[in-house]
Amino acid sequence: MKIEGRTFIVSGGASGLGRACVEDICRAGGYAAILDMNDELAQEVVKSIGGGKTKFFEANVLETESIAAAVKGALEWVKETGKEVGGVIAAAGVATPAKARSSSRVIIDRNLEPFSMSDFDFVMNVNVRGTIDLIRQVIPHMARSTPVGSDGERGIIVMVSSAAAFDGQPGQVSYSASKGAIASLTLPLTRDLSRYGIRVVTIAPSIFDSRMTAMMSDKVRASLLRTTEFPQRPGKPHEFAQLVTQSIENIMLNGVVLRLDGGMRMPSKM
Ligand SMILES: NC(=O)c1ccc[n+]([C@@H]2O[C@H](COP(=O)([O-])OP(=O)(O)OC[C@H]3O[C@@H](n4cnc5c(N)ncnc54)[C@H](O)[C@@H]3O)[C@@H](O)[C@H]2O)c1
Repeated sequence: MKIEGRTFIVSGGASGLGRACVEDICRAGGYAAILDMNDELAQEVVKSIGGGKTKFFEANVLETESIAAAVKGALEWVKETGKEVGGVIAAAGVATPAKARSSSRVIIDRNLEPFSMSDFDFVMNVNVRGTIDLIRQVIPHMARSTPVGSDGERGIIVMVSSAAAFDGQPGQVSYSASKGAIASLTLPLTRDLSRYGIRVVTIAPSIFDSRMTAMMSDKVRASLLRTTEFPQRPGKPHEFAQLVTQSIENIMLNGVVLRLDGGMRMPSKM
């Protein structure tokens, strides 16, 4: 799928990895509808890119109605610009930091108190329900669009898993469960959508610079980087976006979970 002249709906596009995708897509001649709950950061992205290439639609992916209103707005914008939807990049997400001793994020704390189900539900709902709800609401439009190229392609869904889907650390039960779910639903989603010429690619990053990882302690960061083969540094958001643009452009990428991690395997102990 050519990026130029196409619109991509990017959840979490106001910050970090999602923002880098918005920037790369626009640099390649595409358009980006930013769906996010952070109005201030999103407006800053729209202003810095300029040229009417991006538009912000406020959405809380925890709420179906909020997604519906934002998707409706984005599709109206697509109608105005005439730049058909080329895909969804579902990058909105939340993480729980790795274990701090006696944190309630560990399944039982030192007093043998189990963690709270509301914390678990929150992470699952943002990362899994929010991802699927957005995709589910955009797909009907994509499936009705005119296929392009000799293969009859209609677009791509890019989801964001994590290295924690495979080597989750102590304290990451909720986050790992949510990112494992994203990895697992990649293939059935691909199989559901192939008849419409829509591909699905999931990227599982290790540690990348963003607001999410800025709150990591130096100890946790150093421990993760020690278990990275090469390069021994956090990934840059642009390096994540590069794989997203390659996924959009390379039609043979489909039904796959791609680790993007410099060979990092997260350790059990910090
Ligand atoms: N940064 C990393 O090291 C890393 C590693 C693996 C996976 N990921 C995943 O990448 C994705 C992007 O994370 P990031 O690092 O860019 O973090 P980030 O905090 O910089 O960006 C996340 C964005 O999602 C938005 N968001 C959060 N909850 C939302 C909600 N309910 N509704 C709408 N928008 C919401 C935030 O406002 C923010 O703009 C997440 O799914 C995260 O789990 C990140």
